[in-house]
Amino acid sequence: MTIDTLDMDRPGRKELGRALMECGALASDWAPTFAAVDRAVFLPDLMWPYDMAARASVSVDRREDPDAWYAAADSDVPIVTQWDDGVHRGPGPGMLSTSSSSMPSVVYSLFQDLDVDEGMRVLDVGTGTGETAGALTHRVGRGSVVTVEVDRSVSADARERLCRQGVYPEVVVGDGGVGYAEGAPYDRVLATAGVREIPGAWVRQTRVGGIILAPWGTYYGNADAVVRLEVMDDGETACGGFTRSVEFMKLRAQRGPVVVHGEHVPPTALESAETSTTSLTETEFVTGPFTDLPFVLGLRVPYCRQAVADKRGGARPVWFYGLSDPSWACVMFRDGEGEAAVWQSGPRRLWDEVVAAYEWWRGRGTPGVPRFGLTVTPAGHRAWLDGPEEESWAV
Ligand SMILES: C[S@@+](CC[C@H](N)C(=O)[O-])C[C@H]1O[C@@H](n2cnc3c(N)ncnc32)[C@H](O)[C@@H]1O
Repeated sequence: MTIDTLDMDRPGRKELGRALMECGALASDWAPTFAAVDRAVFLPDLMWPYDMAARASVSVDRREDPDAWYAAADSDVPIVTQWDDGVHRGPGPGMLSTSSSSMPSVVYSLFQDLDVDEGMRVLDVGTGTGETAGALTHRVGRGSVVTVEVDRSVSADARERLCRQGVYPEVVVGDGGVGYAEGAPYDRVLATAGVREIPGAWVRQTRVGGIILAPWGTYYGNADAVVRLEVMDDGETACGGFTRSVEFMKLRAQRGPVVVHGEHVPPTALESAETSTTSLTETEFVTGPFTDLPFVLGLRVPYCRQAVADKRGGARPVWFYGLSDPSWACVMFRDGEGEAAVWQSGPRRLWDEVVAAYEWWRGRGTPGVPRFGLTVTPAGHRAWLDGPEEESWAV
C-alpha cells in the first residue's frame, strides 16, 4: 500500500503520510487508517503547534489564517489544544500544556508497537482531541474501543468530533489512572499521557498476554520512553521493554512535585555548599531531548529532578533537586574550561550520585533505551537491563 493510492484531499496531508512512511512511523497496514482519520478534523480553530525553529508553541487560528492552520495540522509536530487545565484564556500560550494532539510520527509508531488488530478490545487513556480513539476504532471496529479523558470539556469536544466523523468509541469522562473496569478485560491498553507509575488497575483490567503501552519516565525530567508491557499468567504482573524515547504530558495525578528554584536553593546557599570540580564535559553530559543519557540517569538516581538551564555568556548551569529531602547540586559548565565547578548541599550528594549513574552506564557500554525494561508487580516497579532476569533494581 502506498499513500498515493489512498484518497486524501489535501496535498499537505499526502505529503505528511509519505514522510511518515519514509521514516518508518507509518506502517503500510496503518495507511488506510491515516487516510480515513484526518487529524485536522479533530483540531480546534485556535491551537498552538510547536514551532521547531522558535522552539516554542505558537498560536494559529483557522479563522484568521486557514493556510497556516492546515499547514500546522499536516505537519509532524505536537499541537497544544488546551493550557492550564482549561483555565487559560486568550490567543497566547499558557503556562502548562494540558491537552494536545501528539506528533503523528509518535502516534503511528505507538500504533505499530501496540500490535493491535480487528476485534481486539482497547482501552485508550487520554482522549484529548479524540484522534487516537478515532484511529483505533477505525482499525479494530465499532464497539471495541473505550476512551477515557479526565477533562469533561475536552472529552465533550472529542465526542462531538468523533460523532461527526461517524466513528463511535465509547467515550468516558473519568480518571484513566483507574482504567475503566466496566469495559474490561482489554487486549490492549494505550496511554497517550505519560506515567511515572503504571497503575495496577491497567494490569488487572488487561487479559493475560495482553499489552499495555505507555510513555513512562521518572521524576528526573521529561525524558520518557514508551514501555510495552505484557501481562503475565498471574494477571497482576506486567513485564516488557522500552521501545523508544518520547516526551508526553503526564496523567494529571502523576505530574509530580513542582520545584521552585528559589525555595529549594535559597539565595545565599551557594556560599555554604560543598564545592568540588568535575572533568565530565558539557558535551558528554548535556545530550539533549530524546537521548539515552537523561532517561538512564532517571532510572538510576531516584527522587531527583534535573534542570538544564540556558547557556549565557558561555556558562551553562545544570541543577539537581532532591525530591524527598532538601538536597541540591549544581554543575557549572563553562566554555573553554577543562574542569566544571560543582556545588552540593543537603543530606544527599546528588552530583556524586549522578556521576556514579553515568559511570555505571559507561561501564556497560552506554546501552540505549531499547536495552532497558520494566517489571510491574503489586509490590512496585523494577527496571532492568537486557532482561528481567539480568541486572535489575527498584525504581
Ligand atoms: C497528549 S493528550 C492525548 C492525545 C490524544 N490521544 C489525541 O488523540 O489527541 C493527553 C490527554 O490526557 C488527558 N489526561 C490527563 N490525565 C488524565 C487522566 N488521569 N485520565 C484520563 N485522561 C487524562 C489530558 O487531559 C489530555 O487530554
